[in-house]
Amino acid sequence: MDAMTFVLFGATGDLAKRKIYPALYNLYIDNKLPEGFSVFGLGRREISNEDFQASVRDSLHKFSRRLGIGDRLESFLSSFRYSALNVNNVEDYSTLLSAVQERENELKIPENRMFYLSVAPEYFGTIAQNINQSGLGTVKGWRRLIIEKPFGHDLESARALHESLEQSFAEEEIYRIDHYLGKPMVQNLEVLGFANPVLQALWTNRYIANVQITANELVGVEDRAGYFDTAGTIRDMFQNHMLQILMMVTMHLPKRSTPEEVRMKKRDIVASLRPIAKDEVINHVIRGQYSAGELNQSPVPGYLDENGIEAGSRNDTYVAAKVWIDTPFWSEVPFYIRTGKRTHEKSTRIVVEFKEPLKMSSDAEEEAAPNLLTIEINPMESITLQLNTKSAGSDGKLEPIHMHFSSNSKNAPEAYENLIHDAMLGDSTFFAHWDEVELSWKWIQPVLEAFKEDIIPLHLYPAGTNGPEAAHQLLAEDGNQWW
Ligand code: BG6
Repeated sequence: MDAMTFVLFGATGDLAKRKIYPALYNLYIDNKLPEGFSVFGLGRREISNEDFQASVRDSLHKFSRRLGIGDRLESFLSSFRYSALNVNNVEDYSTLLSAVQERENELKIPENRMFYLSVAPEYFGTIAQNINQSGLGTVKGWRRLIIEKPFGHDLESARALHESLEQSFAEEEIYRIDHYLGKPMVQNLEVLGFANPVLQALWTNRYIANVQITANELVGVEDRAGYFDTAGTIRDMFQNHMLQILMMVTMHLPKRSTPEEVRMKKRDIVASLRPIAKDEVINHVIRGQYSAGELNQSPVPGYLDENGIEAGSRNDTYVAAKVWIDTPFWSEVPFYIRTGKRTHEKSTRIVVEFKEPLKMSSDAEEEAAPNLLTIEINPMESITLQLNTKSAGSDGKLEPIHMHFSSNSKNAPEAYENLIHDAMLGDSTFFAHWDEVELSWKWIQPVLEAFKEDIIPLHLYPAGTNGPEAAHQLLAEDGNQWW
């Protein structure tokens, strides 16, 4: 891997502490950082290098799964420097440039610079522009920009954000993190597809009856009311994470593919999503909000009683949808997608339900359970295939059994580790590319409008339950059920 300088905007922020430093440290422990590696943390406040290193040390103690390795911790921290920077002030970037160059000379490393923007998206454009204007972005090696969602609030703002970045960085230099794409089991979907002819052969509308994607959460709005009450689950989870899983599970890759091939395949999928007109949203999408309920036998407040939520808010904390992909492979297969906060479980999973092309028996008594392929993504990582057999004790009756594989994921890399490592290698396979982001916003825009104009019902569901009844009806009307 190339030696590089890692320039982190928002170095004193929550994401840096919880995710970015632990990810860098874990990569370091696994010898996955380059020999010449230097970090510049940036923030508004003036703090010394020592205090900055102490706060990184502190966050590793809290959030790294790899601690207790004292000596290496200190040598890791010695790569960290801090600079105060006002994102609007070009001169601050020039001062930073001198410091970065000095360090590059000291370490004898080339001008490879990774800029990580762990700040609110309204600063993306300004920062990118100032990186360029100050000369910080003029390099003899490579330069890359990592950004985090939200990439816009709707189609128009996403395009405006993209345009502001595009003036300073080329698409190949931009790495948009969707942390679901860093989850090992989501990454595994790529391999499952191309490395298993059995699955490849079955992965079409000929054999698949429906596909279900669930991301249930136990947590509520937490302390993020300011952001969440205007975003809602539709933007916070559905437009990005859920549609990314949908793309990953439906693209057909014949072999291990290049990032460019993956980008094209994903683009084709979102481009083929059957549009839902605003007045049809009511038939395809269920919008929900949690009311007061119970979790682990303790009462929890409803969404409207959470801190910072606007009185009478009609914001969505739950979305379920029925989606179609109009390609020869997938036409007529319903994709059911649901995600919600304050449900009864934390669980992210994909279930593929297979058809029954030849009815096994004309005997009405002999009901066979469907073949199901269940891919658990979080908190467990496993793959289970449900088959029917008969056992000695079952009097010849059919019984569903489960072939089960679960990975020993205790020390598996976390999403951010995988993604930062890929970006360092210049591999954009598991990042959100602009094409798919734009098409996702385009597809979802009528849904956003239907929500905003309040032309579809808002179904309440008690906290700690399995979502609104209407989400179950959505499948029942097709003769299906959530698995
Ligand atoms: C984030 C959302 O992107 O994903 C949060 O902003 C959500 O609201 C989180 O809780 C869920 O992530 P995970 O990895 O816990 O499923």
